[in-house]
Amino acid sequence: MRIDVLTIFPGMFSGPLDESIIKRAREKGILEINLIDIRAFSQDKHRSVDDYPYGGGPGMVMRPEPIFLAVEACIPLGGSSPEIILLTPQGERFNQRLAGELAGQEHLILICGHYEGVDERVRQALVTREISIGDYVLTGGELPAMVIIDAIARLLPGVLGAPEGTAEDSFSWGLLEYPQYTRPRIFRGMEVPPVLLSGNHEEIRLWRRRQALKRTWQRRPDLLEVANLSQEDRRLLAEVVSEGDA
Ligand code: ADE
Repeated sequence: MRIDVLTIFPGMFSGPLDESIIKRAREKGILEINLIDIRAFSQDKHRSVDDYPYGGGPGMVMRPEPIFLAVEACIPLGGSSPEIILLTPQGERFNQRLAGELAGQEHLILICGHYEGVDERVRQALVTREISIGDYVLTGGELPAMVIIDAIARLLPGVLGAPEGTAEDSFSWGLLEYPQYTRPRIFRGMEVPPVLLSGNHEEIRLWRRRQALKRTWQRRPDLLEVANLSQEDRRLLAEVVSEGDA
């Protein structure tokens, strides 16, 4: 998969994309990330990327020309058309479903917005999708781009060791994840639930499912309304609810 990131601060990306799992995905050739400096496409003598808003008001607006030229330079001739995504608080809210959908694409172009925003004609004529990572305002689209790249990268085949790793994550089932424990069995007086040491796989599976349902019910009941629950889930959930917080 190829991701081109258009930014006026390419230096912000060194670190997060050069470590750990994303570093390995890039080295293995599963993920190609190109950082493109929008300023390099500015054609005026000051290499400006922003200008005053028409109509007045505070702040600056990103100029359309360098963004159009940078995007056009990323689009391969005769190739399939990439999804062109603007990171903005005004976009569709990012979630695991959207990460999965984007992970299935061959080529993404991410445009990191800044200042008071981008010239509206970028939205009108260039962008195919707008994404927000949450209802808060950041200084620019760089951190959101990194969040999205990270969430996508771990879904690409061959990036994580165990293929079932991502299937069991919080949200992949539409539920939060069950509690996990590792050694020692007793740590500062706190014991690992005995069922996990029982070796009984069916009991362990049921316990985990019940815990996932309980945690979701307690913390994110909104997720239960849209989750795809089996007969068994409904029975376990009814037990959890009847026990209250016990
Ligand atoms: N740019 C500034 N804030 C943002 C957000 N929450 N999501 C995406 N892009 C942004």
